Amino acid sequence: MQKKIFITGGAGFIGSHVVRQFVNKYPDYQIINIDKLTYAGNLENLKDIENKKNYLFERADIVDEKVIIGLFEKHTPDAVIHLAAESHVDRSISNPTDFIFTNIVGTLNLLNAFRKICSDKYENKLFYHVSTDEVYGSLGDTGYFIETTPYDPKSPYSASKASSDHLIRAYNHTFGVPVIISNCSNNYGPNQFPEKLIPLAINNIKNMKPIPIYGKGDNVRDWLYVVDHAVAIDTVFHKGKIGETYNIGGNNEWSNLDLIKKLCEVMDKLLNRTPGTSASLITFVKDRAGHDFRYAIDCSKLTKELGWKPSLQFEKGIEITAKWYLNNQKWMENIVSGDYQKYYENQYVNR
Ligand code: NAD
Ligand code: DAU
Repeated sequence: MQKKIFITGGAGFIGSHVVRQFVNKYPDYQIINIDKLTYAGNLENLKDIENKKNYLFERADIVDEKVIIGLFEKHTPDAVIHLAAESHVDRSISNPTDFIFTNIVGTLNLLNAFRKICSDKYENKLFYHVSTDEVYGSLGDTGYFIETTPYDPKSPYSASKASSDHLIRAYNHTFGVPVIISNCSNNYGPNQFPEKLIPLAINNIKNMKPIPIYGKGDNVRDWLYVVDHAVAIDTVFHKGKIGETYNIGGNNEWSNLDLIKKLCEVMDKLLNRTPGTSASLITFVKDRAGHDFRYAIDCSKLTKELGWKPSLQFEKGIEITAKWYLNNQKWMENIVSGDYQKYYENQYVNR
């Protein structure tokens, strides 16, 4: 095996696409997926690659220091691609504590274990942290986040991700740990947990349920197809410079309301409904507390220095995505039964 790589959070939405990208493209690498399997982790996402020779799953909680050190001692990885996190902003508002443990303490445990096991020879080693554009805070109508935009996180989620980014840089500066960070905009695509806007809306449209839009729907996000993100992570992992940060984005801004209207058109077509049927489900609800107005990424550094750019047009990507959820109803049904029902009721009951 050329390289042994720990991918944390590999059973989640983006992590599963990253695991697939590496397992299929690099048969000489040993990919070890470390995941606690929280509500957001789902091994169904990896069915197509789970029997590959270069793939291994280890169920573990990154908050458990001893377990994590044990895994580093057992496998002595050359690299870590760290995606495991609590990732949903609304959950960070209703219950911030899990975010502090997983996103901050969990990242610290991984850094300490990496240092302990690898510090005698850092050559050809890498700790790659997958982060978010939300660490930069919120934009007005104009401007873009660049890699040197000062941090200004505004939700418990983004504050915890900002803390983890700071720890990563501090371990590079103080201890010489070889790190890279990338900060990405909103992802969409297959396998996203239906607490997030796009899969939640697809599921509600399919079932003729209200589509909840926070506030007036004028908040803006920059959407990137998840496979493009996985390819960007592959590019940064192989070509990025140690100590650097790379912004990743879709050059694809939509207000929430325009995005949902576009999705409704696509869904009407796919479900053979009269145009306008799905849009009639749009329902304005109470705004998210502290709702960031706009995120927009300038990813020109990544394009110029490492040659990556988004490949998929949004119009195509959203259609592929909607079709995937309609063709994988079992996947959705397995999730929305049980605990999800409770989450949904609590989240939307008073809005
Ligand atoms: P997700 O919530 O779908 O998946 C998170 C995964 O981490 C799950 O498999 C879960 O089981 C695992 N996990 C959670 N806590 C853990 C713990 N204590 N120990 C081990 N595993 C644990 O998240 P996602 O949307 O795929 O995001 C992945 C990463 O990318 C996160 O770090 C997130 O901050 C970042 N990110 C996400 C987006 C986005 O749009 N979704 C954009 C930019 C960056
Ligand atoms: O920007 C990157 C971030 O994108 C990631 O770091 C996060 O992990 C990821 O969850 C995502 O955060 P957002 O808060 O932007 O994503 P979400 O899908 O929750 O919401 C997208 C927008 O839609 C946001 O403005 C809130 C709004 N929204 C969301 C939900 C769930 C609604 O209007 N109604 C909803 O029901």
